[in-house]
Amino acid sequence: MELKRGILAKYNGNNTTNHPYIMRLIKLEELEKVVSFQNFVYDLLTDKQILYIVSYEDMIEDMKLGAKIIGIFNKEDELIAYRHISFPGLSDRNLGKDIQLPENELVKVAQLERTLVHPDYRGNNLQRITFQGAIPLLKELGYRHLLTTISPFNLFSLLNTMQNGLKIKALKQKYQTGKDTNDGLWRFILHKDLESIIDIDYTQSVTVPLEDLETQQNLINDGFIGVELFTQSKSVKYIK
Ligand SMILES: CC(C)(COP(=O)(O)OP(=O)(O)OC[C@H]1O[C@@H](n2cnc3c(N)ncnc32)[C@H](O)[C@@H]1OP(=O)(O)O)[C@@H](O)C(=O)NCCC(=O)NCCS
Repeated sequence: MELKRGILAKYNGNNTTNHPYIMRLIKLEELEKVVSFQNFVYDLLTDKQILYIVSYEDMIEDMKLGAKIIGIFNKEDELIAYRHISFPGLSDRNLGKDIQLPENELVKVAQLERTLVHPDYRGNNLQRITFQGAIPLLKELGYRHLLTTISPFNLFSLLNTMQNGLKIKALKQKYQTGKDTNDGLWRFILHKDLESIIDIDYTQSVTVPLEDLETQQNLINDGFIGVELFTQSKSVKYIK
């Protein structure tokens, strides 16, 4: 299913050239392409902590449960970006449980699992474009809550996600390897209620450096939520 067409810039050394792209849903039989693209982007990352990758088996399993993958293809029909969205239902991986979402709302959770953009095509807002492409689909399917995890050290992804209106509701270690609950990766859990139209009223606000995880955890435990990211000072505004 085609979602959008457009033009984007490709960087190759000092040169920038314009190329058409197509955004569309990925088919089950294209998953191998998605996994090798994921591994290619991951291998190039200097900080591997920011991206939790999954296997082909996990992805196919998730697709069979209804997950959607929105892909962006260049004019050579090569995959240059994708966004993976899953529907965790009542399973333990439902991030709604991490932010104490009421039990009856858990089935309305859509999870923004990960977005990857080819390094040569970054700077074209593809993370935001795939987000905008996803919203009508999710609304049509009846989902109400968007949830995602982002590393506190992934400035670009955090900025794009908060500018899309998701707010920080928790900060904890996720994706533990086994019983040791302290060996996970630090992640913010962000949430957006697609049906909420009211602006949040607040009486207190604090701005905290992103790297100060302890203060942010204390604030969240005290009922604050993170609403805005300042990239220059690398800090987050929390309100209550
Ligand atoms: C996070 C990510 C998807 C954002 O890609 P994007 O949509 O192309 O980013 P934007 O268009 O918002 O980029 C805004 C600016 O940040 C820069 N930028 C984006 N990602 C960057 C990165 N990883 N490293 C350095 N600069 C980056 C862009 O070049 C652009 O700069 P400009 O304004 O000077 O042109 C992409 O960086 C990526 O694939 N990262 C690796 C995987 C990842 O961390 N995914 C998110 C977690 S699931």
